[in-house]
Amino acid sequence: MTDNKKPLRSARWFAANDLRSFGHRSRTLQMGYSYDDFMGKPVVAIINTWSDINPCHAHLRERAEAVKRGVLQAGGFPIELPALSLAEQFVKPSTMLYRNLLALEVEELLRSHPVDGAVLLGGCDKTTPAVLMGATSMNLPAIFMPAGPMLRGNYRGKALGSGSDVWKYWADKQAGKVTDDEWRNMEAGIARSFGTCMTMGTAATMMSLAESLGMTLTGASSIPAPDSAHTRMATATGRRIVEMIEEDLKPRDVLSRASFLNALAVQMALAGSTNAMIHLIAMAGRAGVPLDLDDFDRIAREVPVIANLRPSGAFLMEDFYYAGGLPALLSMLRDHLDLDAATVSGKPLGAAIAGAEVYNDDVIRPLDRPISTAAGVAILRGNLAPDGAVMKPAAAEERLLRHSGPALVFRDYNEMAANIDRDDLEVTADHVLVLQNAGPVGGPGMPEWGMLPIPKKLLKQGVRDMVRISDARMSGTSYGACILHVAPESYVGGPLAAVRTGDIITLDVEKRLLQLEVREAEIARRLAEWTPPDRTFPRGYNRMYAAHITQADKGCDFDFLEGIEPTPEPEIH
Ligand code: FES
Repeated sequence: MTDNKKPLRSARWFAANDLRSFGHRSRTLQMGYSYDDFMGKPVVAIINTWSDINPCHAHLRERAEAVKRGVLQAGGFPIELPALSLAEQFVKPSTMLYRNLLALEVEELLRSHPVDGAVLLGGCDKTTPAVLMGATSMNLPAIFMPAGPMLRGNYRGKALGSGSDVWKYWADKQAGKVTDDEWRNMEAGIARSFGTCMTMGTAATMMSLAESLGMTLTGASSIPAPDSAHTRMATATGRRIVEMIEEDLKPRDVLSRASFLNALAVQMALAGSTNAMIHLIAMAGRAGVPLDLDDFDRIAREVPVIANLRPSGAFLMEDFYYAGGLPALLSMLRDHLDLDAATVSGKPLGAAIAGAEVYNDDVIRPLDRPISTAAGVAILRGNLAPDGAVMKPAAAEERLLRHSGPALVFRDYNEMAANIDRDDLEVTADHVLVLQNAGPVGGPGMPEWGMLPIPKKLLKQGVRDMVRISDARMSGTSYGACILHVAPESYVGGPLAAVRTGDIITLDVEKRLLQLEVREAEIARRLAEWTPPDRTFPRGYNRMYAAHITQADKGCDFDFLEGIEPTPEPEIH
């Protein structure tokens, strides 16, 4: 029984003395529960993104049981609600196509069921922003329990990192430096346990940012998935949500501009995934918090990269956890954070991280000994990206941060894939590779094609980085001088559509400039003649998606899901 003065939302289903409530109670009894299990108790939804084909979430069935234990300990009634799993490695063309679908599903699951609050289980890339976006829109008490990173990979005694080392050794294999046998052995050694990618890719970034936003218990985002501490954290999270329901502590009470700016500072210190920029803007939109690309650029100039994690550094998430994990990093960043920002623990951030310490200052560096002097992200603008483009200077070869070179344009991904490794491709290390029609609508779903492969003939010459430009995203585990999220995208007639092979493109990261060196009148003429690719989305989800998706600088949310209009309660009779 709860002391909460506000009546439980679930009482609408269970407490009334009418025909429909008879059904709700009798059908709950049908499942073997007794009245003592559920009557008058806060009902906690456990949104579970487990599936048989999501290795990052393979343990979430067991963790849901651990959450239930905590809910029961605290006097709640847990109900597990499965949701779209969005396994990054398996979902085609891109999980990004479905982030908003999962967000919508979470909102509607919470809306339509007799629940008073929710524990959100996710971690594989898009699942974290999606479940948080849905729960924020519904705005019932909610807490996030991250899936946690997998153990570090191992190949012949060398640590292997998800994604980053795949790209690195694939380039070496293309250059003839890695044999088929070695490649297959790496395949078996790189993913040794359940859990998310263990580099500072999108999953680790978003789990860390969820904690920085105040939406997890302290330390939850860094615990390796197989660690017993992870199970205990799940149980503690289950206990806490029952208290949060009693306190009526909802996502929009936690998420403020201060908490988002804290998250941005952490993203920069981690050199986190560029995908986070899209997700944070969308999440802020659901919370009614103003946030734009200029906020990212400003904070990137203030906060150095201090997490020595791949792809920008040397270590992996397991090392980060042993070094003190996110609370330790937050303690190093104190001067850049608003320590009064709220958290789901009920304490302000400063109190939540009190006592946190760094145990290995090579993994989590002091501010005066950063791993890179280059910014974690830079927002570029110019006639090629009037609404902005994103780059991760810390993950690029320094010589490319100021570069002019001729464009080599691929009209779409298939054209690029068919030609990039041709021996007669006319390309030099100075070329700027351009991929069109890979954005939110054109992809569709803005696939992670932004780290265009270095042409094989250049790989053989030892080239490992080039300037690459697209309206796509790239995996958080990727690296290189890749300019991403160009807005507006080429598919809807953005200036990227006007680039032709041979045009000179200038990149100047210091000046935050991305410029097509073609007269404005000529660009206008080309765009006036431009016609969109012959591609339509005649039915189903793709049709709805294409009609309502916003551009990258706006967070790629659906226009009809943005904002803080209350989600209407269902008619239950
Ligand atoms: Fe799931 Fe990387 S594939 S986190």
